[in-house]
Amino acid sequence: MLDDALQQIQLNGTLPAHVAIIMDGNGRWARGRALPRPFGHKAGMKAVREVVEGALAAGVEVLSLFAFSQENWQRPAEEIGALMGLLEEYIAREMGDLKEQGVRVRFLGDLDRLPSSQRAAVDRLMSHTAAGEKLALNILISYGSRAELTRAARLLAEEVRRGALDPADIDEDAIARQLYTAAWPDPDLLIRTSGELRLSNFLLWQLAYAELFVTPVLWPDFTRQHLWEAILEYQRRDRRFGKVSV
Ligand code: FPP
Repeated sequence: MLDDALQQIQLNGTLPAHVAIIMDGNGRWARGRALPRPFGHKAGMKAVREVVEGALAAGVEVLSLFAFSQENWQRPAEEIGALMGLLEEYIAREMGDLKEQGVRVRFLGDLDRLPSSQRAAVDRLMSHTAAGEKLALNILISYGSRAELTRAARLLAEEVRRGALDPADIDEDAIARQLYTAAWPDPDLLIRTSGELRLSNFLLWQLAYAELFVTPVLWPDFTRQHLWEAILEYQRRDRRFGKVSV
């Protein structure tokens, strides 16, 4: 039997094609249980599985998860090590199911900064799931939006230098084409867990018209039900893109 929320989502009709999530609150979840922070990240891994399955069930086309920011490289070495270990564990554990479920995984960010073992693992997952057609799952890792925009500017400048691009032709589409997310529509809905009211250098260009949904739920406690509640709330919003309602 279909869950009530899922049924209501389908009745309402307009789905967010692209949902982005800032997964926040792992540290606080662990602290609340007097556990070291990596335990919070480990619990957060289960929530990743929850939202992937929830997105598949709802019919979301693209899911983008902020897993590790460029700023996170400044965390204590022990926590970075734990996160990198979890990344490999996630890949080893989920690779088979993700492929079977038709999920195509892409890792977006400055992947050259990853240790070689994790770099090989992310490449493995990307190539293993490349044929997935049900859900595009973007995992943003070693990612910062300003760095992404700076990189886009550099790439455009190189095209101009090669004579392949006239500066007069640099428009919004030209910039969007140089972003890691070039293949996907902009997020329609941004979810942030743990109640923080910040964008934290996440998809600044792409979120221009996204609907924002902030929940106090800490990431490890986030379930598919919470995702569906956010989608229901999105369906109640009046998106105007700067224009007036019709
Ligand atoms: C933010 O919580 C979360 C992170 C920095 C890491 C997110 C990682 C996971 C969800 C697990 C691994 C995921 C994959 C895809 C392998 P925080 O540590 O900033 O929490 P706090 O604000 O409460 O301290």
